Formats: sequence, structure tokens, C-alpha cells
Amino acid sequence: MQKDSFFKTIVGRCCTCTGICCCYSSCRNYSRQVTTETGEKTPLPDGQGRVAPFFGSIQSFFMTHDKDTVMPIKVLAFAGSPRRHGNSETLMDWVLGGMADPEVMIEKIALTDANINPCKGCNACEKLNKCVQRDGMDIYHDRIIDADVILLSSPIYCMGIASQAKALIDRAQVFRSRKYVLKLPVVPTDRKGKRLGVFLASAGQNWDHVFDAAIPSVKCFYHVIDIRDADISYLMINNVDEKGAIDLNPTARADAEKLGKTVLAEIRKRLAA
Ligand SMILES: Cc1cc2nc3c(=O)[nH]c(=O)nc-3n(C[C@H](O)[C@H](O)[C@H](O)COP(=O)(O)O)c2cc1C
Repeated sequence: MQKDSFFKTIVGRCCTCTGICCCYSSCRNYSRQVTTETGEKTPLPDGQGRVAPFFGSIQSFFMTHDKDTVMPIKVLAFAGSPRRHGNSETLMDWVLGGMADPEVMIEKIALTDANINPCKGCNACEKLNKCVQRDGMDIYHDRIIDADVILLSSPIYCMGIASQAKALIDRAQVFRSRKYVLKLPVVPTDRKGKRLGVFLASAGQNWDHVFDAAIPSVKCFYHVIDIRDADISYLMINNVDEKGAIDLNPTARADAEKLGKTVLAEIRKRLAA
């Protein structure tokens, strides 16, 4: 990727300070415009957008990357709860915090604001190799393929994942059609085994098996986007019901940050191989 295009992808305007926002940790109001396939500029809702989680200015980023080609590690994080900044999203933020590094480009999407409709079950993707629906997923189908690490977080709702997260997974049916019906590659061969998944969840009940029913859908998602079962990490915290309860869990934050660091180290190793 050329410096210029990378610059464009990470620069956005902060809706609070109306300045250029480049610091993941200090600003949660970061927003940016996306350019659609037709060339229109569409603003992303609050909390969505590409974020470079490094401290300091964009200029200092390029000073430490003084080469013509910059290949960031691309991290795509889908926060699945309709309750913004709740337990599962906080868990995700901690993992992303553990991944903070000048080489990492993080894009976090709050699915509740992402305008991703449910799958219509028309199976048109089996012929078209794309979805017939034009909505928020237009952007994310490509980004899912482009990313090196894909995180998904969700609360447990009625023993499964929240419908926002499930809609994303159902819309990944395009990849299943690509792979099994059209017999086309989902990712290029040289990227297979070089992508990692992370699933994060929170639940109110204090029951050991509260996450069991959610896991198969999660595995299905990662499977169709060519991330192997063995390459998915999980961090699931139960007994956290009220918003903010996760803050009181004695181990969640440290475990999440450690997971972020571990995943970053692993993807670095895989990409270097
Ligand atoms: C509609 C709904 C259904 C829920 N179902 C369950 C459930 O089946 N089991 C459980 O342990 N918690 C359940 N909960 C509680 C949430 O999983 C819990 O509060 C979680 O930490 C919320 O995460 P969030 O703050 O990221 O939204 C439910 C909450 C809601 C709103």
C-alpha cells in the first residue's frame, strides 16, 4: 500500500474536537467518511471508522515508517451489542488496547449502527457471487477479506448471540456460496492460515455453559471466511449483567489485554512467515 492511500484510510475528523483524530485511546467520538463504490461520500455513524491506535500524530507515524510501502496489520472489530460501550464492547476495547501498536490499523464497527440487514435467504449469492442487498454490508464484505485479524463481540441473548451479530454472520453466506457453490477462493491461497479470529462475549448468568449455544454460529462465521477453528481465540465472561459490571470482574481486563498482545504477536509471526 502506498503511503498516500494509507494516509487517506486512517485520517478522519473527530466530531468532538473537529480536528484530525488519530488516537484510539483518547477519543471515542472518532468518525469518518467512506467513499462508496459509486463515489459518494457517506459519513459513518458515531464510533465507527478506521482508527490508528498509536499515540502521537500521523506525521510521527510516518516518521517511524520511512519507507515507500507501508503494510499495516489490519484489524477489523465488530462490536455486536445494541448497548453501546457495554460489557462485551468494553471487553473488545481492552483486547484492541492490547493490540495498540504503530503497525496496527484498527477498524471498529458498532453493528447496531452499521445498517446490516438480515439475510433474505434468496440464495442469489450462489449465482451472483455477491449479495443483492445494498446496505452497510457492501463495505464490510470486502473489508472482511482484507483484514488480518477479525474480532467479533456479542452479549448472550436468550442463550445465543445478539441479533446484530447474527445478521453479520448470516450475511457472510456470500462467502459460503463463493466457497462451496461457485468453488471460488475466499482469500488468496497465500493468505490462508494468515488470518486470525477473536470472539468476545459477556453474559448475565453465572452458569458455566451459558456460552455453549453461541459457539457454533461463531465457528460458522470464521469458517466461511477462511479462518480455521484452531485460529479462533475466545474470551467469554459470565456473571456480568448490568452495564459496567465487566469493570468489576477481577481478571477480565488483564486477560483481554493479554489476549490482544498474544494475537498481535501471533499474526506478526504468521505474516512474516
Ligand atoms: C434480550 C436479552 C437477553 C438476554 N439473555 C441472556 C441469557 O440468555 N443468558 C445470560 O446469561 N444473559 C442474558 N442477558 C444478559 C446479557 O447477556 C448481559 O447483560 C451482557 O453482559 C450484556 O452485554 P452488553 O453490555 O455488551 O450488551 C440478556 C440480556 C438481554 C437484554
